[in-house]
Amino acid sequence: MVGERVDLFRFAHEHRGEVVWMSQNTNTIPLNPSIKDAILTSTQKEEYHLYPYKPGVFGLTEAIRNDLSIDGFDVFLTNGGIEALYSAQRALLRQGDEVVTTDPSFLPIHKQAGMSGAKVVEVPIYGEPWKLTVDAVEREMGERTKALLIIDPHNPLGIGYTAEELKGLSEVAEDRGLYLLHDITYGDFNDGQVLATEFYPEKTLLFYSFSKGAGLAGMRIGALIGTPQLVERVRHFDTNILGVNVLAQRAALASLRGKDDWLPRLREICGRNQAVIRGAVERVDGAFLPVYPSKGNMFIIDVQDTGVDPGTLEERMLLEHRVHVRAGYYLSERFGQNFIRVSFSVPPEQCDRFPRAFTESVEALRT
Ligand SMILES: Cc1ncc(COP(=O)(O)O)c(C=O)c1O
Repeated sequence: MVGERVDLFRFAHEHRGEVVWMSQNTNTIPLNPSIKDAILTSTQKEEYHLYPYKPGVFGLTEAIRNDLSIDGFDVFLTNGGIEALYSAQRALLRQGDEVVTTDPSFLPIHKQAGMSGAKVVEVPIYGEPWKLTVDAVEREMGERTKALLIIDPHNPLGIGYTAEELKGLSEVAEDRGLYLLHDITYGDFNDGQVLATEFYPEKTLLFYSFSKGAGLAGMRIGALIGTPQLVERVRHFDTNILGVNVLAQRAALASLRGKDDWLPRLREICGRNQAVIRGAVERVDGAFLPVYPSKGNMFIIDVQDTGVDPGTLEERMLLEHRVHVRAGYYLSERFGQNFIRVSFSVPPEQCDRFPRAFTESVEALRT
């Protein structure tokens, strides 16, 4: 089968029941029955007949603030963090503005900046220390720089910023009056998560998601958080004035209420799965893990010295082993040929299919 042109995501969805979903940083670990119950209860009550109360089902925005231990900030619910990023960039960026961020990165955000006519300046971080530094950011900034985008923990590398590092980057943003876009989509996996609002509240926006930690990617719910003044500016570009899916909101609220029960177990499984993957990578000549352990639910495997093309590797692992990872091309034009990205928030017994899939596929494709 390998060698035919196949739409890999179509194939993966068609074979959903057999596929280990390590390709999209989703979370397929069953977390807590209360989340599913909340969805079922909302359905039984037929809440879906009404447009949801626009500010959110009662208790949800307060629960988000509690989760982040922040006060005095506004929470604007969106269809996933991606919509929050879109609205914010449309509201704050103009033709000719520049946004400084990383390469590799989650590139759809860069495309969104382009929709406002802004240019994305991608600081290469493929190499030690695998993250943005104050020096590198200062080197890349210019007259037109309007925003600094920090993905933390970082997709796809899995690094996270310490309080000191984030403070340094926040100070650079503040000195220049930049917007600081702090994307904390993967914050649940990071037990030392720090928020840039702590250092630079005036112009920081936090991008928050229920897709990853809470495992609700299909529900499409997230939020934008910032000062009331800043969030008000973004609301002018609210593309979803009628509110976020009510089932998603119920699930999100239940996930926050049950978080103390499920989060420790989730982190434990992620730690265990990372170790399983590392064991496999160590057995393959020419492959290595640039970042370990990851602060997120993913990391990358550099396969450059195996001579294997990441796209072909993704294809073989999926078609022959039903293990879906992602080739680096999706995350970087410059470095995409060097790596695959692997998400490990999957049930342990599914992660255990990774070692054979990876080692067999690299050996079969090696030239
Ligand atoms: C860095 C980053 N930001 C935002 C998103 C969007 O997440 P969602 O819209 O599912 O909340 C993703 C999704 O993978 C991501 O990796």
